[in-house]
Amino acid sequence: MKLKLGKLVAGMGLAVLATFASAQAAKPNVVILATGGTIAGAGASALNSATYAAAKVPVDKLLAGLPELGNVAHVRGEQVSQIASESFTNDNLLKLGKRVSALVKQPDVDGIVVTHGTDTLEETAYFLNLVIRTNKPIVVVGSMRPGTALSADGALNLFDAVSVAASKDAAGKGVLVTMNDEIQSGRDVSKTINIKTEAFKSQWGPLGMVVEGNNYWFRAPVKRHTLQSEFNIDEMDALAPVEVVYGYGNVSRTALDAVGKSGIKALIHGGTGNGSVADRIVPALQDVRARGIQVIRSSRVADGFVLRNAEQPDDKYDWVVAHDLNPQKARILAAVAMTKTLDSKELQRIFWQY
Ligand code: DGL
Repeated sequence: MKLKLGKLVAGMGLAVLATFASAQAAKPNVVILATGGTIAGAGASALNSATYAAAKVPVDKLLAGLPELGNVAHVRGEQVSQIASESFTNDNLLKLGKRVSALVKQPDVDGIVVTHGTDTLEETAYFLNLVIRTNKPIVVVGSMRPGTALSADGALNLFDAVSVAASKDAAGKGVLVTMNDEIQSGRDVSKTINIKTEAFKSQWGPLGMVVEGNNYWFRAPVKRHTLQSEFNIDEMDALAPVEVVYGYGNVSRTALDAVGKSGIKALIHGGTGNGSVADRIVPALQDVRARGIQVIRSSRVADGFVLRNAEQPDDKYDWVVAHDLNPQKARILAAVAMTKTLDSKELQRIFWQY
């Protein structure tokens, strides 16, 4: 009798072990590429939620501090850079993009998470959305408070990012951003405030939410991205030089004239209202266009989208409009698009489609 009981317990134990082993083996593999930012930041005390040093904590320490990640995926980290994201350059974007592109080609990689400063997170997320040819989930994540602060948001943001990157239902939705329980489109999202954890918004709303490791989807992107994109990081060695100038009351053409002579391929004008241009600035932009530089009208207004031929005759001036992209995202699209075309009609098509 005892022998039978012993065999039964042993058999059950083996069954539990086998189940655990198969569950472990079934867990997706997610690679975390760390670039810096507040999510890797550190403050002098727990009360320093807004005054701290960004880009201090290495990726291995970030992962060691969050063992719960192992509940949803096998994770490993790579330190791609360790900088505050306001200092990102086109070279940082290309280096990160090429690493993402190489990793998603690996059959043993199921998803990618990029930890990033929040200041330019929206630009990097949009860039990857345009140039990485994959269906696998890529999730960009940051935090508004360093991990040393009271009510730090980085740990849950990172857990959510890994959980979404490990999810089959996150495939094919373009590059995503998980912040503050929301799953945002990397194309649509932007940072809208500098001192709250609910900092990232899209005027078209989040794609969904992630709660306790479960994804709740409410919409999907309609603009071209990743596999449907005509752009490919593997075919890029440099991005086109593009600068941004803003419109405002009493603006002079001084800054615009200087930028227009700096060897750029396109100038983004962040105009007022519907991307409108002060009458004294129109000739300055026409001079820029006459030198073969593309002029792209965006708006300093957070929401809405710029219409062609509103207060300025874009058809007559051969200018492009940035649709609903803010100036910093318009710069990203122009910098990518102009690696393939310098034609204004083609550029306008691209701004409508991406
Ligand atoms: N220096 C800013 C950056 O790296 C900190 C903001 C943040 O990461 O939340 O973007």
